[in-house]
Amino acid sequence: MNNISKEEVEEEEFFDGVYGKLTGKWKLESDDWEKFARIDNALDGYTHSIKVLGDISGLKVLDFGCGNGWLSVVLAKMGANVSGFDISKEAVRVARAMSEFNGVGDITDFKVGSGYASGFPEQSFDLIIGQAILHHLGDKEMLAKELNRLLKPGGKAVFHECFGNSLLLERARLWVPVATEGEPHWDEQLKYSDIDVLRDVFEVKCKEFGLFSRLDRVVNNRAIIRAINKFDCFLLANVKFLRRYARTIVVELYRKE
Ligand SMILES: C[S@@+](CC[C@H](N)C(=O)[O-])C[C@H]1O[C@@H](n2cnc3c(N)ncnc32)[C@H](O)[C@@H]1O
Repeated sequence: MNNISKEEVEEEEFFDGVYGKLTGKWKLESDDWEKFARIDNALDGYTHSIKVLGDISGLKVLDFGCGNGWLSVVLAKMGANVSGFDISKEAVRVARAMSEFNGVGDITDFKVGSGYASGFPEQSFDLIIGQAILHHLGDKEMLAKELNRLLKPGGKAVFHECFGNSLLLERARLWVPVATEGEPHWDEQLKYSDIDVLRDVFEVKCKEFGLFSRLDRVVNNRAIIRAINKFDCFLLANVKFLRRYARTIVVELYRKE
């Protein structure tokens, strides 16, 4: 990659360190992809982000910022032809190994690239999906241009992201002794103002998830967590102002024709 920014260099170095320790020998379970056929009503952002893709069999799907490639394997097992890219060469090495290890090496391909200039040809993809990636790309205008370039007419992109719209909530959270390891800092989480930049290029649909489900860090019972998730979904569907306090968000971007 030529002329990459300071942000990209830092991301590359950091994630080369993270993925450099991994082998890619991680076997996914069949339920990891079969469960989506059983679920009608998604109670969490990840499940929703897969359900809104619809039937992906035979489609060209891009795993945007693929990391170790776990999602690419899931999508390939669901019948898609998957390409993935990441700024970290170590991530790409692990994603290739993981795809081979899970028996989908022949319908996946991976390369090193940046979300601002991925290097794939124009209009290559029916669908783009990304998990926890948008907040790593500070320049949302450049990102929107690249997404628009990559999508076929009628295509859509779906992102599932940590949401940090409320400074009030972030301040309150500092008083609660819960683990936040692995979550981006508040100032790096996606906000409505970031999504507004994407609106210049795309028709946008958002669905927020998680209010009281933050308690899953202290509650260890699956039935209780499921009940809390259901309650959160009910509140977020019916009380609009609460959406800004959500924990994650799924953003669907539709190409304007
Ligand atoms: C939190 S990880 C998520 C990875 C993967 N989507 C997953 O769900 O495991 C963020 C990923 O974004 C990648 N990344 C950061 N900046 C990037 C950029 N400008 N272009 C492409 N990938 C980038 C990192 O290397 C890392 O793999």
